[in-house]
Amino acid sequence: MADYVPVLKAVVPAAGLGTRFLPATKATPKEMLPIVDKPAIQYVVEEAVDAGLSDVLMITGRNKRSIEDHFDRAYELEEALSAKGDAERLAAVRESADLAIMHYVRQGEPRGLGHAVYCARQHVGEEPFAVLLGDDMIDARDELLKRMIQVRDERGGSVVALMEVPPDQVSAYGCAAIEETGQDDVVRITDLVEKPAVDEAPSNWIIIGRYVCDPAIFEVLEKTPPGRGGEIQLTDALLTLANTPAEQGGGVWGVKFRGRRYDTGNKLEYLRTVVQFASEREDLSAEFMTWLREFVADHDGVGTTEGA
Ligand code: UTP
Repeated sequence: MADYVPVLKAVVPAAGLGTRFLPATKATPKEMLPIVDKPAIQYVVEEAVDAGLSDVLMITGRNKRSIEDHFDRAYELEEALSAKGDAERLAAVRESADLAIMHYVRQGEPRGLGHAVYCARQHVGEEPFAVLLGDDMIDARDELLKRMIQVRDERGGSVVALMEVPPDQVSAYGCAAIEETGQDDVVRITDLVEKPAVDEAPSNWIIIGRYVCDPAIFEVLEKTPPGRGGEIQLTDALLTLANTPAEQGGGVWGVKFRGRRYDTGNKLEYLRTVVQFASEREDLSAEFMTWLREFVADHDGVGTTEGA
């Protein structure tokens, strides 16, 4: 492996169109949709900071100004809260502004996740970096990113996060062909297949929205043609790196994650996430759970599992 370079920067792509959440996302980025009272993307930035990455580059697009405002000071609001003596809300408003050193770059056109990551090239330079998808949340109690960075430090190359799903769900995701490494939670990635048919899936380990990339990914992305849906796919570039020698920044490892993950870009999971977070909030849970139990009892048998 070449000289050791630490992972210090996080890239958070948040420039997608969010079509699954229209019309809510017509003028609001889906990453700003609240999980109770905090936008999903703040959890994602908190996760990066917890893993030691306080330099955060956000890839934004149209309608993304609210993201920038959220991570900035809000003087009028702060003054008003201060005048009222509302210290608790004042602290909440300031928290997101003081969280990390935020940088922004705009992805002119949403040409895919791979293209969004490519937009980080100038800021990142020749260092390994983490990518955290802005609509994918990992429970703060379950460690993932720190472990991925550790694997990068030990083995070089790039690292993806994997989660096991029931075989019949594999075809909705990017799926990995894996080879054991002798380490319980680390595998070598030998192939990546986007949305495979159930009987063609190489495993039931799917890729979730956390990556640690070798800077060699930028050269690969530059040459990666649009793939599925006419978009430049990050998984296509990672597959190229999986087949590239280690001396050239190649090699892709997978970290098996067995904790809690919330895909807030998906309506059903978004609703589940809000309910779960509300049920765990000290200030809300007693009243909310009482209501929820009654609601469920009253609606017993209503709805089916289809149509999510
Ligand atoms: P998604 O696959 O969820 O796409 O992107 P999307 O366009 O945002 O949402 P839908 O499918 O239309 O509802 C995964 C992540 O990559 C970012 C998104 O913002 C999201 O965080 N992304 C995607 C970009 O930053 N740029 C792109 O061109 C595409």
